[in-house]
Amino acid sequence: MGRMSIYITGDIHGSISVGKRFNSKNFPVGKTLTKNDYVIIAGDFGLLWAGDREDRYWLNWLTNKPWTTLFIDGNHENFNLLEAYPVEEWKGGKIHKITPSIIHLMRGQIFELEEKKLFTFGGAASHDKPYRKVDISWWPREMPSFAEYEEGLHNLEQCSWKVDYVITHTCSADALKWLSLNFEKLNHVDKDQMHDYFNEIKGKLEYEKWFFGHFHHNQELPEHQHLLYDDMIKLT
Ligand SMILES: [Fe+2]
Repeated sequence: MGRMSIYITGDIHGSISVGKRFNSKNFPVGKTLTKNDYVIIAGDFGLLWAGDREDRYWLNWLTNKPWTTLFIDGNHENFNLLEAYPVEEWKGGKIHKITPSIIHLMRGQIFELEEKKLFTFGGAASHDKPYRKVDISWWPREMPSFAEYEEGLHNLEQCSWKVDYVITHTCSADALKWLSLNFEKLNHVDKDQMHDYFNEIKGKLEYEKWFFGHFHHNQELPEHQHLLYDDMIKLT
């Protein structure tokens, strides 16, 4: 038996790209993995969306892959469906178990996967809210509650502000500023309380790498921050 492997990728948006991202042509190493290996999605998982046959088909397809899929929530999730699952404890943090091998890592949690510590914090503000419908394609729970922000800080305190990986959907205020200066199409994105919250954490936390998604690019940023879209990166 080999060591555990962890891979990470960015937004899936449900049936739009789950089949392409994880098929054996795009992710050939996938077939060598086992249920003790993890593939993490940094938000906008999107397979709890309409709760329909199409969602079920792809959830089943993904469950039957050789690895265990972990995801944080993005802004494009149906939070009503997601939060209907019972909260469980797993590897030191809170989860929703969607299927036996698809696990939602909740906000503000720390997970220990063998010797690696992960801090997870999903959610983000949608930039296309005017075009979306409440409870059909937009959910207010895309933004964290005060209790979730507090829980995140509390859990970081508990591990003395040292983790291996941070996994978020949106990014720190510094990263957002960098992106707006380097990508013209991102210079309209408004800073909100989540970006400030992550900046505060970034200033205090010792971490090896901070992965986030949401902006649909693959790009390394200063301070070990890394924007992910369709790249599949091996962490360990
Ligand atoms: Fe997003």
